[in-house]
Amino acid sequence: MMKIEFYKHNLEQSDIENVCKTLRSIFLTTGPVTAEFEKRFCEYTGLGHTVALNSCTAALHLALLALGIGPGDEVITTPMTFIATATAIMHTGAVPVFVDVEPATGLLDVRRLEQAITPRTKAVLPVHLYGNMVDMRALNAVAERHGLKIVEDCAHCIEAERDGIRPGQLSAAACYSFYATKNLTCGEGGALCTNDPALAERVNILKLHGMSKDAAARYSGKYKHWDMVLEGWKYNLSDILSALMVDQISRLDGYLEKRAAIWERYNQAFIGRPGLTVPSIHGKSARHLYTLWVAPDQRDAILHGLQDEGIGVAVNYRAIHTLTFFRERFDFRPEDFPIAHDIGNRTISLPLYPALSDSESERVVAAVLKVLGTKA
Ligand SMILES: Cc1ncc(COP(=O)(O)O)c(C=O)c1O
Repeated sequence: MMKIEFYKHNLEQSDIENVCKTLRSIFLTTGPVTAEFEKRFCEYTGLGHTVALNSCTAALHLALLALGIGPGDEVITTPMTFIATATAIMHTGAVPVFVDVEPATGLLDVRRLEQAITPRTKAVLPVHLYGNMVDMRALNAVAERHGLKIVEDCAHCIEAERDGIRPGQLSAAACYSFYATKNLTCGEGGALCTNDPALAERVNILKLHGMSKDAAARYSGKYKHWDMVLEGWKYNLSDILSALMVDQISRLDGYLEKRAAIWERYNQAFIGRPGLTVPSIHGKSARHLYTLWVAPDQRDAILHGLQDEGIGVAVNYRAIHTLTFFRERFDFRPEDFPIAHDIGNRTISLPLYPALSDSESERVVAAVLKVLGTKA
């Protein structure tokens, strides 16, 4: 039995050739290919500035730093996310404060936001989980009332739109991931997008040691001295990795259509089945992860059953306040955020990628129904 992988990338021969071209060029580090990638990513997102970085974690960290967030501050976020959302807050010296999530979507519940705001709250960090956008209009209204900055975790969410709003339109910065399993990938990478030129300029300096000029600027034309103007980090993206993505951007919408067709097939098979919940989506989702929520006492048995059927699976995510580090550091109990805790005990992610064939998605459906003990 051939295994159906949880994820397969969509790199094409032309992407590989772009990398080879870069390898034969003078620039391997951040240079003209990265600049071209940033330009094209701005065109796709509709946002004014893109700073390519080596991860979404770096983008979140620098967005918060550039907004002046640090020790003594609190940043509100969700416990139903990848750990990096919260650790990026901690990298600045600030404290992550969780609010529970909506039971139907797993997204940060904006109705609970106000209760979590204290005089130390400086920002809100919503996560567009699975590619489904948080209610940014409602979140922005609360943030404006309390003078809070918004930084969006768009690791799952390049292509989405909700109520006429796309990522980055109502926030200081949108932070993207190009990690190996993401909708747009170079293995390891990220970007910060913003409509604020001053913020983009600051992040450009922070991403490379706090230097006033990057290598491309130093080595073009007559030698120019650089200065160190801020304490910075080493978070830049190389031209080798950018080369893998320059042409991928134009294929994003086609890939989304293919994932949407698989999504519909899964929905038809699963919505309304006893023992299963399919999370709701609002507006246009980026359809990054297709998740099923099953009975918590059966989740691990179902996961293992699917693996036995040759289906690649993942868990996105167990609620992060229940993980040892956060429990010990902040004294969290699982019941502090009961909805996130419950979803974290129920969730299973299924294979979802453009290269997944019809017969493979049928096999996934059949395996889920078999493992659940239900007939198709
Ligand atoms: C929701 C979320 N936030 C942040 C990250 C961190 O992204 P990166 O690995 O690019 O730092 C991820 C990565 O999986 C993620 O899924």
